Amino acid sequence: MPDNTAAKIPQVKKSGATPRPKGYRFAYRRKTQDKGLSRMYAHQDKKAYKHNVLAQPFLKWAGGKRQLLPAIKEYVPQKFTQYYEPFVGAGAVLFSLQPKKSVINDTNGELINCYRVIKDNPEELLELCQQHQEKNSKEHYYWLREQDRQDDFKDKSPVERAARIIYLNKTCFNGLFRVNSSGQFNVPYGNYSNPIIADPGVIRSVSAYLARKDVKIIEGDFAKAVATARKGAFIYFDPPYHPISDTSSFTGYSVNGFGESEQIRLKELCDKLTKRGCQVLVSNSSATLIEELYSDPNYEIVEVKASRAINAVASKRGRINELLIHNRYDRKQVNTSIG
Ligand SMILES: C[S@@+](CC[C@H](N)C(=O)[O-])C[C@H]1O[C@@H](n2cnc3c(N)ncnc32)[C@H](O)[C@@H]1O
Repeated sequence: MPDNTAAKIPQVKKSGATPRPKGYRFAYRRKTQDKGLSRMYAHQDKKAYKHNVLAQPFLKWAGGKRQLLPAIKEYVPQKFTQYYEPFVGAGAVLFSLQPKKSVINDTNGELINCYRVIKDNPEELLELCQQHQEKNSKEHYYWLREQDRQDDFKDKSPVERAARIIYLNKTCFNGLFRVNSSGQFNVPYGNYSNPIIADPGVIRSVSAYLARKDVKIIEGDFAKAVATARKGAFIYFDPPYHPISDTSSFTGYSVNGFGESEQIRLKELCDKLTKRGCQVLVSNSSATLIEELYSDPNYEIVEVKASRAINAVASKRGRINELLIHNRYDRKQVNTSIG
């Protein structure tokens, strides 16, 4: 049974921001004043934590793995001692597995700040997201978007920055996270009617999972993130995909794109981890470079089909072939079929 105890305060209705139950804002304030709330989650008996379906991605993310989850679950090792996700993005696989002893990482500092704030300060975050929800308009969006072009942006508190990114992500065109060469968010307003900015049940459940399972959250390069992985660890790598054609290239995740040399560096790291006795699973496109890189007997390459929702060109949001590559460990038996 899912553990829904973290989701006590009524949720904003899916159909819009109002009506809200009486005492809703008051409840937020009271909870915000209780600074020890998320610490309390952390101090509860960690063994008592049960898988919670409400702990799920709180952002829309290019390359998000929700569609591929049934296939990925077929490639979870039978046993593992630690879990690493060095390109965590919105964390679809992390939340689907909710493993203990996890390390998550990404180079996107604003994204990692969101995970840290949700873990330590979910109530204040929810209050700020609610304020953005009430003010949602094209003017409010562009006012908030401009903040990273201003000198005092660095003075914003982590919770203000997290609420900003969550609001922009839920109201921008297509849920993209894209920055220009100066690292400034540059996606236009999406004009969606009544978008849900932050579902209190999801935020509290993610917070409870991150705190109670003691998930370590790192901002940095993928190679550094797995430095502590030992024999028996399971590492799921979901890097920016290598483009299948020159025109399909998408390098908007960070100021520095992820090119051919990065894909080679990742393969070499997989080889090192294989020697260390780690269980490695990699997602990538079916580009020739990727097929060639992993065509050594240590790896098995499996082709799976995925629907891609985030593509600016609607006609390209179809089902495409992707690869799952693993270093031949014993797999858990699950009852799903690969789509
Ligand atoms: C395909 S997305 C991951 C999607 C994620 N699995 C999900 O379900 O949302 C790739 C991620 O890699 C991150 N990234 C890019 N270069 C990186 C690097 N050198 N080290 C770590 N993360 C990096 C990007 O910020 C992005 O979030």
